[in-house]
Amino acid sequence: MAKNIEVLINKAPIRYSIEIENGALDKLPGLLTKKLHLKKDETVKIFLITHLHLYTLYGQKLQKALIEEGFQVSVEYIAVGESVKNWLNAEKLLNKMIDLKLSRSGIIIALGGGVIGDLAGFISSIYQRGLKFVQVPTSLLSMVDASVGGKVAVNLGVAGKNLIGSFYQPSLVVADLDTLKSLPDSEWRFGLSEVIKYSLLKEDGGIFYRWLEEHKVAILKRSDNSVIEYLVAECIKTKVHFVSKDEMETTDIRIMLNLGHTFGHSLEAASRYRISHGEAVSMGISLAGRLALKLNKINGATFEQIINILNLFNLPNHIDKKYDFNTSQLIRHFEYDKKNEGTGVKFIIPSKFIGHCEVVKGVSEKILEEVFAESIY
Ligand SMILES: NC(=O)c1ccc[n+]([C@@H]2O[C@H](COP(=O)([O-])OP(=O)(O)OC[C@H]3O[C@@H](n4cnc5c(N)ncnc54)[C@H](O)[C@@H]3O)[C@@H](O)[C@H]2O)c1
Repeated sequence: MAKNIEVLINKAPIRYSIEIENGALDKLPGLLTKKLHLKKDETVKIFLITHLHLYTLYGQKLQKALIEEGFQVSVEYIAVGESVKNWLNAEKLLNKMIDLKLSRSGIIIALGGGVIGDLAGFISSIYQRGLKFVQVPTSLLSMVDASVGGKVAVNLGVAGKNLIGSFYQPSLVVADLDTLKSLPDSEWRFGLSEVIKYSLLKEDGGIFYRWLEEHKVAILKRSDNSVIEYLVAECIKTKVHFVSKDEMETTDIRIMLNLGHTFGHSLEAASRYRISHGEAVSMGISLAGRLALKLNKINGATFEQIINILNLFNLPNHIDKKYDFNTSQLIRHFEYDKKNEGTGVKFIIPSKFIGHCEVVKGVSEKILEEVFAESIY
């Protein structure tokens, strides 16, 4: 006779700290011992993954401090750019970890932007079924977005942006605001595209949007530590709000964080990653706004507000025709999007007013073609 057996797993709540502070890196060795509940008498192996230039700027000092704290530290450099976030590099790193005889008591530290974080997080999630990993985001984009929430992935070929990945939360996130000082201006601006995303979806009646407008000069100059700290913390709080309600994106809550990303991912992939993630998100937000306008979800004034905030921070508000994109090729890229379900692609669009978004499905190809046609010039 058939039997039905129910398996109930009492999952412990996921809990980790995010430290946001100028100079936080100096505290990292002590934080590891404390927050990861490590035994003082045990030598723990750390595998630090970073870029060479970030190692010179921050990694070397961190390595020394970790060794002084009693950790055994090995370092691996990854080249720069979205294209390194791939399966081949994941495999190389995994082989290196086997060579180092890293056991499940080992810790992976990702020191860098979203590329390092996603790649290091992904291998942490699959090596020996999961190692502790610590995010040390050094770009604005990774501080406010990529390092928090546990989405880790690599790209599969050109089309498959983030196609192979896991939901795997870090054990600790340490965001040292001082590291942002060495970030190139362009990367700073690209990170602001995710900040603007939060200002459009945070349900606070547009307060954060107006705060960004008012602090434009200090934000662009990166001159005021308290402004930067507030900006980073507000974004992280917003992300945590959505993630904690829907960790695995099984409802329509966490998916809101993808505002601008469905369009953005297709632009990134179709440009073969010549367009950076942040730039693509900025263009994607403007396209999501245009789609919302077309579907009568927002009025012309709200659309202008979206374009204005992108302009204010010198971010792209349309697709430059120099990229010579083929619209049907861009639409084809949606097929690879993980948010693409049987019912068609899900788009997150602004709706009603600043500080409110919604999910739309079943948008016709004709409307998408119009959105692209009006956005490429
Ligand atoms: N997992 C997520 O939830 C999530 C969310 C958003 C984006 N992402 C991913 O993040 C990636 C983009 O991240 P990114 O914009 O940080 O790109 P990135 O990691 O390529 O970093 C951008 C550039 O800035 C440099 N850099 C980083 N910190 C620096 C510093 N302090 N000083 C000087 N140079 C520094 C890097 O070396 C790199 O050249 C994409 O792959 C995207 O898919 C993931």
